[in-house]
Amino acid sequence: MVTDTNKPATNVTVKTRANAASYDIAIGCGLVAAAGAWAARVLPGTPGRAAIISNRKVFGLYGGAVKKGLENAGFEPHVHLIGDGERFKSLRTLESTLGFLSGSKLTRTDSVIALGGGVVGDLAGFAASIYLRGISFLQIPTTLLSMIDSSVGGKTGVNSSFGKNLIGSFYQPHGVLIDTATLATLPAREVTAGFCEAIKQGAIGGRPLLDRTSAILEKLEGDRLKVRLDDYAFSASFSAFLAAQVSFKARIVAGDERESTGKTDARSRKVLNFGHTFGHALEKATNYRYFRHGEAVGHGIRFAAALSKNLELLGQNDVELLNDVVRRAGGLPAVDKIDPGEIFATLQYDKKMINDSLQWVLLERIGKPVIFPHAKIPRAALAASFKQIISG
Ligand SMILES: NC(=O)c1ccc[n+]([C@@H]2O[C@H](COP(=O)([O-])OP(=O)(O)OC[C@H]3O[C@@H](n4cnc5c(N)ncnc54)[C@H](O)[C@@H]3O)[C@@H](O)[C@H]2O)c1
Ligand SMILES: [Zn+2]
Repeated sequence: MVTDTNKPATNVTVKTRANAASYDIAIGCGLVAAAGAWAARVLPGTPGRAAIISNRKVFGLYGGAVKKGLENAGFEPHVHLIGDGERFKSLRTLESTLGFLSGSKLTRTDSVIALGGGVVGDLAGFAASIYLRGISFLQIPTTLLSMIDSSVGGKTGVNSSFGKNLIGSFYQPHGVLIDTATLATLPAREVTAGFCEAIKQGAIGGRPLLDRTSAILEKLEGDRLKVRLDDYAFSASFSAFLAAQVSFKARIVAGDERESTGKTDARSRKVLNFGHTFGHALEKATNYRYFRHGEAVGHGIRFAAALSKNLELLGQNDVELLNDVVRRAGGLPAVDKIDPGEIFATLQYDKKMINDSLQWVLLERIGKPVIFPHAKIPRAALAASFKQIISG
């Protein structure tokens, strides 16, 4: 594990709304070792009880360092481990987590710290937002996806019998600590999944962000993130890449913190769903068992690019560029065995249905997303796009 805390940390300040409280996102290599001092700095008041919410795997890797750091900084850490996997992002886990906060006697001046990927972050953030009507919350994301996506923007929540992510809140953390060294242990598929979300942000953010993402992938040569993070120059450029990604997401969120339903312009938070309409349909058609979410988004990006081209919105060069960058992110599970009829049938149930109309985020060029109603898209264009992504 890389633990050189002397490497400079990048700091990004996130403003969620004009005039609203902002918070810092610290990005660097080896930062978990200094998590206690960081928490003492970003949290209001003096160090009190801190509930670390994590899972066995992540806590086994990084929990000791975080807990020790908190103790050294004067906190009283309490550890609660939840099950590993999307199915534990549930109301049942939420209830047991709230029970743990209560049993540990956390008061309104205490805090919750999420240590893990998006599952832990979404659940812990939601628990923090409703326990005693809201206590301080910190995020230490340990997957690439949670670093660039789920830990920024304040969406928290759980899944339930009526759908994924439908129960939740908007709740901003007091700070986010991104330690790139934790990615050294991340399985290759999770790395690919995270990069697909990064490519999505590049596609809607513009060429500088997409090119930066592509350049990092080029330097990575496959899944050798572990090896590359030991290299000082790579580690610094990787932190800069994360900072650019996080800043982009923060900028979109700042313009539309609560994803207002009426907003459909290119600055709407909805543009972050680029690649997700088809991605969600793929996940659903395969019962959420076949793809990592980000992998389905990887296919979704290729599909949305092909569809944009078929609707004469996007040029062939941009389609090829997006296909190349997605390919560079790593292999995706094949889609050619999945029945397209099944995929298109599930589209209608996508949660981004507003007033019964499903919407697509398409591209006019890299960095210029447009929101397009499903009703305006000929079925033949969907079918052609599907054919193109399985043949390319
Ligand atoms: N709140 C938001 O805005 C938002 C945005 C996107 C996604 N999400 C949510 O995020 C979740 C997905 O998050 P995810 O992709 O991080 O998945 P995850 O939290 O399930 O983590 C993926 C796997 O990696 C393991 N892991 C985590 N960090 C590790 C590390 N450093 N080393 C080794 N293994 C590690 C985890 O234990 C898990 O098995 C979904 O529930 C999704 O709905 C939320
Ligand atoms: Zn996503």
